[in-house]
Amino acid sequence: MTLPITQSQIPPDIIDLGAGEPNQSIFPLDMIRRAAEERFAQGDKSFLQYGAEQGDGYFRLALAKFLSQGYGHPMTPENIFVTAGISSALDLLCTLFAQAGDTTFVEETTYFVAPKIFADHHLNIVPIAMDENGLVIEALEENLKIHKPKFLYTIPIHHNPTGSTLTDARRARLIELSQQSNFLILADEAYQLLSYTNDPPKPFAAHTNVENIISLGSFSKILAPGLRLGWIQAHQKIIKRLVISGLLDSGGGMNPFTSAIIRGVIESGNLEKHVHDLIKTYRPRLQIMDSMLKQHLTDITYTIPNGGYFFWLRFPEQVNSKEIRQRAKTFQVDFRQGTLFSSTGGSHNYIRLCFAHYDEARIEEGILRLKECLNTERHPN
Ligand SMILES: Cc1ncc(COP(=O)(O)O)c(C=O)c1O
Repeated sequence: MTLPITQSQIPPDIIDLGAGEPNQSIFPLDMIRRAAEERFAQGDKSFLQYGAEQGDGYFRLALAKFLSQGYGHPMTPENIFVTAGISSALDLLCTLFAQAGDTTFVEETTYFVAPKIFADHHLNIVPIAMDENGLVIEALEENLKIHKPKFLYTIPIHHNPTGSTLTDARRARLIELSQQSNFLILADEAYQLLSYTNDPPKPFAAHTNVENIISLGSFSKILAPGLRLGWIQAHQKIIKRLVISGLLDSGGGMNPFTSAIIRGVIESGNLEKHVHDLIKTYRPRLQIMDSMLKQHLTDITYTIPNGGYFFWLRFPEQVNSKEIRQRAKTFQVDFRQGTLFSSTGGSHNYIRLCFAHYDEARIEEGILRLKECLNTERHPN
């Protein structure tokens, strides 16, 4: 009998081009082990104690320096609050800043688990249209005439699932609207540091002087999801509200043990090197997926992502990607159907592929299997 350890397990004979988690082979075990050994050898046991509510101060200091470099903008430890990842941060923000029945805007389409967290808090979810440049501001303005949202949850860079990035002009207008209509922008910047082509736009994290902006960051895609470690960057007023919450008052700061170890990974410069290596690893994977798609899949359109993990493929209207997925298993390939990412049951003719999980050879093989599966649909016998 085997007992579960990981959230998902891909059968070895399947190439799951939908899998959105990093491949275990990329986790820098030795780097983390060395940092842990050094921390244990120091003999200071304070990281085993209830932690400071805002998060280990030395960890925040190291993280602020790392982010200043990576984000290309000065970041301050005072505006950082340590979390157990973006998912837990969203949950805490709902607890503290919204009540059952309040409205939250989400992008249509979006990272499919976020609406589940909002639903756990009984929030009313209203989808806002997107295009290849991210959230459509006119659609937001129309909805602001009808609704009074507490939150707008956006993935402004290397979006999951669409790969799109919100333009600077739209960012500026979105910030204005959040101030005029008094809602909080929850900017999920999980992929900000994973840009492979041109320079990314300045993150929302650079605006901690604006009370309406909350930036969410995570170690899940730049180091390892099992750490359950992330951060919020926000205005002092928001940080103060987080710090005095019952959860933090009772349990102390989040993950002081993990933070103390990861502080070493950051201070040694190893995290920066690792992120650099990830970019070098993922860039050719993106390129090979793009060229395989162009060569082998007809009838699809997509925008090439500049970073992150995902391709978002559009098929002709009559295609139902859920049906294709059912058949795909026979071809030992998998993906995620578009409807998973829609809060309206839309995007039935889209699929999400992840280029980060597998190496180039497996991506090539996966796309060939997908081609075979799609060809069988066109010629059923
Ligand atoms: C856009 C986005 N946000 C958040 C997460 C999850 O973040 P965390 O592991 O920090 O909870 C993911 C994971 O795939 C993601 O793609």
